[in-house]
Amino acid sequence: MRVLLTGGAGYIGSHTAVELVAAGHTPVIVDNLVNSSREVLARVQELTGQELELHELDLRDEDGLRDLFRSQALDACIHLAGLKAVGESVAKPLDYYRNNLESTLVLASVMKEFGVRKLVFSSSATVYGSSAELPLKESSQTGVGITNPYGQTKHMIEQLLADLSVADPELEVTTLRYFNPVGAHPSGRIGEDPAQIPNNLAPYVLQVAVGRLEKVSVFGADYPTPDGTGVRDYIHVMDLAAGHVRALERSRPGTRVFNLGTGTGTSVLELIESFRRASGKEIPAVVVDRRPGDAAATYADVSLAERELGWKATRSIDEACADSWNWQSSNPNGYEGA
Ligand code: NAD
Ligand code: WQD
Repeated sequence: MRVLLTGGAGYIGSHTAVELVAAGHTPVIVDNLVNSSREVLARVQELTGQELELHELDLRDEDGLRDLFRSQALDACIHLAGLKAVGESVAKPLDYYRNNLESTLVLASVMKEFGVRKLVFSSSATVYGSSAELPLKESSQTGVGITNPYGQTKHMIEQLLADLSVADPELEVTTLRYFNPVGAHPSGRIGEDPAQIPNNLAPYVLQVAVGRLEKVSVFGADYPTPDGTGVRDYIHVMDLAAGHVRALERSRPGTRVFNLGTGTGTSVLELIESFRRASGKEIPAVVVDRRPGDAAATYADVSLAERELGWKATRSIDEACADSWNWQSSNPNGYEGA
């Protein structure tokens, strides 16, 4: 399939591009590079041995997107483009609603116009809010207790796509709810490269390990979890990327939703420890107050994806930390200066 990969220059998108090529598909990348770099294309080409296209375009540019669809015989779209910083979304809600909602509306309209009916969408475990019971199942309640505009955009887009698929029974929508993506391609050539100081734990710890930041703040050690720190379901980005390929290949009419996680929880202290093993660095960490809005623990029920997509995460946390360290230590400043 020729697959429009929106946000394909980003962290998850670049790994998905590699996995698409490995599975015999052709990704056509569209990205406005607001949180990524053109260097990604060179690296993905190096890893896949294939010439690929990166179209620098904001998805909200409807005419530009139409031109792109006109010039490409596209079979499907994997839509990862979006703004994703939770804290920033609280400070700049308009930017988040405008970017994430408008870009999806424009994309869906242009797909309809050109008869492209397969869509895989990046959602997030954040849509479960605070009310659902663990492990989180696709049928668990969503939309209640979402604490930030970023999460709201994901929830709204899920609703929008479900409505579109009711109106057009031939539309094939697969919504993937990612848990916490970590890791990098084992080559160390591509990985996560946040433009600003990272909000998420793994990239923060990595920048401490490499000496760009001084110490990790552990947000709370008084949660009702085994060691008192927050528990999350960290999934290797290569497993996540493989999940997109499988979702695409098993696409069918209607809307389907899948959790992409491992089903296992890891605490903040356990993750830091795994990074210490991987890097051989001390990684100073201090416990501070809880971060407002954080849940004590989240992890996925992954049985639906296993049953219906034939997909399962296979890589361990230690593997993810080793691969991330390989990426970060060989690219201490990410793609900058490459
Ligand atoms: P990322 O920032 O690395 O990638 C997103 C890409 O989208 C960037 O390259 C950015 O330049 C591009 N982009 C943003 N707005 C755009 C627009 N209007 N037009 C064109 N391109 C645009 O983030 P990521 O971690 O790779 O996340 C990919 C998707 O997965 C996002 O939708 C994110 O919300 C979702 N997600 C991420 C996580 C996570 O923790 N990384 C978890 C759950 C869901
Ligand atoms: C993980 C754990 C923190 C940073 C967020 C979004 C979610 C999804 C993934 C996009 C928590 C603790 C963190 C730090 C810490 N993104 N922590 N010190 O909050 O589970 O999920 O990213 O869709 O929508 O909400 O991920 O990596 O920020 O936090 O102690 O410096 O690490 O309290 O327990 P989170 P995270």
